Amino acid sequence: MYILGIDFGSRYIKAALSIVDQDNKITIIDTFSETHKASRKGTITDLVRAKEAFKSIVEKVKMKHEEEIDFYLITISGEGISTFTGTTKIPLWKQENEERRIKITKAHVNEVIKTAKLSYMTDNKVELHSIPQEYTIDDQQPTQNPIDMSGVKLKGSVYVIQAEKTQKENLVNILSDCGIENYRIIYSPLATSEAVLDEDDKETGMIMLSVGDQTTELVIYHGGILRMAKVIPFGSYNITKDLKILLKTDYKTANEIKKEKATAFIEDADPEKEIEVENSGIQNKLPTEEYVSKIVSARLKEVYDFAIHEIYKGSYQRIIHSPVMLTGPGSRLKGADKLFSQMNNSKTVNGKICGINTKDKEIHEEMFTVVGLIKYAVNNDLIVSEHDENEESKGMLFKMKRFFADIF
Ligand SMILES: Nc1ncnc2c1ncn2[C@@H]1O[C@H](COP(=O)(O)OP(=O)(O)OP(=O)(O)O)[C@@H](O)[C@H]1O
Ligand SMILES: [Mg+2]
Repeated sequence: MYILGIDFGSRYIKAALSIVDQDNKITIIDTFSETHKASRKGTITDLVRAKEAFKSIVEKVKMKHEEEIDFYLITISGEGISTFTGTTKIPLWKQENEERRIKITKAHVNEVIKTAKLSYMTDNKVELHSIPQEYTIDDQQPTQNPIDMSGVKLKGSVYVIQAEKTQKENLVNILSDCGIENYRIIYSPLATSEAVLDEDDKETGMIMLSVGDQTTELVIYHGGILRMAKVIPFGSYNITKDLKILLKTDYKTANEIKKEKATAFIEDADPEKEIEVENSGIQNKLPTEEYVSKIVSARLKEVYDFAIHEIYKGSYQRIIHSPVMLTGPGSRLKGADKLFSQMNNSKTVNGKICGINTKDKEIHEEMFTVVGLIKYAVNNDLIVSEHDENEESKGMLFKMKRFFADIF
């Protein structure tokens, strides 16, 4: 079956056309990217422009490829997304004073998860993802699968990711305007991390930080389970903006200096070497490499501070000993890794695409989110339309469609 992933970023809208076979093997056929002016900090702020951008990229895909698209995936991000961990304990037996241990069924598990979420749900929010964490039966060791075990009380906790209703409505509006019914909306950090983490990384524990244009994504996996997924509303654009102001130049020049000449690690910057700035209003001396580095590192430090604060708040640095995975296009800034290592006192490693056939085509950081989006949906059985109430049957329908498509 053909799946089109769409990453609605702050500055770029990106698409990845893929084919998924009956063994869930994903092959990326092609990728596309366009700029747009419909979002700020990962949130759509101009629906008319967002519709234009969405239509434009989908048309581009369809002009080049004749394959009929079976399913669409789209990212959601920004400050409107909130997360919480809900925990609760339920009795497994119903009658008082009955001394009987009960065998846990799927219904008990569903009930504990449903109850754990209850007190946090509000009317203006909608659930995007609900990820069970751990279960504890009485005083036993925590488990990830309590089914068929016996006990008196079941404790369960769940990590819930929710969006503001209007934010999701905007995406639904765009999709329905294009007549698309088979789609799924997925939280962007889950997509990015899926692109670069394999099952071993998730099991051992991994902290991933992905620097985008106006957002930075922080994702933590441990024991094979997602523990945290956050969007920090700052990214590489904030560095460009500072350079633009302080070097008195235009966006394009500031962005080029950031990418080609700047380093975020001041110790590596030459205090004497001058940097040529095109279209600059600076009158006297040219800025030095060290001066540019000071501007760049100050802003990146701010982003890293947010991330490190979250990591420490959850005590994850104490239990996860792997190097922190840095990724996203913004992480290609020279010295970005060294600065993080220094601030967090930990090693870093660069994220690489894994578990996807890219047909020998190199996939750069810009495309990690959109490619990971497809992997996340396939690996988590999310190729089921949000529209459909009878999700099971729709899932089956797609599986059958895929099966027959492969036969004929
Ligand atoms: N070599 C590089 N060094 C530094 N920054 C870079 C480099 N290459 C790209 N960038 C920056 O990465 C950013 C683009 O990130 P991305 O493609 O994730 O944007 P987006 O998806 O539209 O935004 P977001 O992910 O924040 O919603 C731009 O600010 C760009 O300048
Ligand atoms: Mg991005």
